[in-house]
Amino acid sequence: MSHVLVDAQDAHLTLRWPDGPAASYPYLWLRDNCPSGFHPQTEERLFDLLSVPDTLRAASAAVEDGALVVAWEGDGHVSRFPLSWLEARRPGRPAEDAAAVDPVFWRGDVPPSTLPRIDGATMMRDDAALLEWLVAAKKTGLALVTGLSDDVEAGFAAAERIGFLRQTNFGKTFEVISKPDPNNLAYTAHALPLHTDLPNQEMPPGFQFLHCIANDAEGGGSVFCDGFAIAEDLRTTAPESFELLANTLIPFRFHDRDVDIRKHDTVIRTGQNGAVEEIRYNAHLADVFDMPAEVSTAYYRAYRAFMGAVRSDAYCISLKLGAGEMVVFDNRRVLHGRSAFDPSTGFRRLRGCYVDRGEWDSRIRVLSRG
Ligand code: OGA
Ligand code: ZN
Repeated sequence: MSHVLVDAQDAHLTLRWPDGPAASYPYLWLRDNCPSGFHPQTEERLFDLLSVPDTLRAASAAVEDGALVVAWEGDGHVSRFPLSWLEARRPGRPAEDAAAVDPVFWRGDVPPSTLPRIDGATMMRDDAALLEWLVAAKKTGLALVTGLSDDVEAGFAAAERIGFLRQTNFGKTFEVISKPDPNNLAYTAHALPLHTDLPNQEMPPGFQFLHCIANDAEGGGSVFCDGFAIAEDLRTTAPESFELLANTLIPFRFHDRDVDIRKHDTVIRTGQNGAVEEIRYNAHLADVFDMPAEVSTAYYRAYRAFMGAVRSDAYCISLKLGAGEMVVFDNRRVLHGRSAFDPSTGFRRLRGCYVDRGEWDSRIRVLSRG
């Protein structure tokens, strides 16, 4: 570290590590991140960036005792940056993040027995086991919690061990049973084609938890597919369909006596680097398409291609949840559905809730702290 060379230029300093490429640190970036400008307890920034001129320059810069020491022109403030800190934060390099876990796609040939699973009691008391499961479940977007106690609240307690529950118009938690006067197809005994929940929301919920209390009726099996795998395959096999699904807004709507919640959005959302980050797909909550007529023929071709994949054995896996099991999945990636059931043959009851992706990632980071 003592061999780091410092080279002062007009708007930045260049640091040259003995073993790596040179890194440029803009003066304003350095001043804005001077350790003295942060609250010692909360570590939040107190420094006011507009208190220094746009043309800020270093009067001197040198390496002393493993730190870069910069004296600033103007107010003469002196900043000390540990070299290890600067090395880890070379501009342009993403900060280290325990929650930066890339998805691992899966298709219809993945045996459900290989999905990440954790025992309910272990999840509640063993931080290391929980962390391992959270990371594995973030890779697949689909995982199980097994052996939950008979307590009908056990699934919610497990979800709350990860983060705050996301409240929606269905409440903080919801009950999936066939009921009289349903406001949602889930609350009937009908089959539910694969879908993501609440695509009509500005931000649909992240992880969904479905805790099975009873599943004794004939039918009522669960089906899942990895929407990211479908989208990525479509990008290869039918690029024009991928582009239409990623760029054309379609309307989603849920309404009942109390609410009327609508959102126009794309079925596929890609991030800055082009990777698929979100799937929003729900044929029973899609409202009347309102795209220009000249787009709709091509759009229907693309939408039906996605729909066909969602129904295909090439992508879908099936399992039947038993009492005490809970399925957990990224609702903005993994589509879920169920087969119809016959309520006259037995009772079926699931209890559900959501925890957003940000809470999930936060739990990974906190449990990863050394
Ligand atoms: C739901 C749902 C699945 C099931 O409630 O949104 O998809 O297995 N339920 O009943
Ligand atoms: Zn659902």
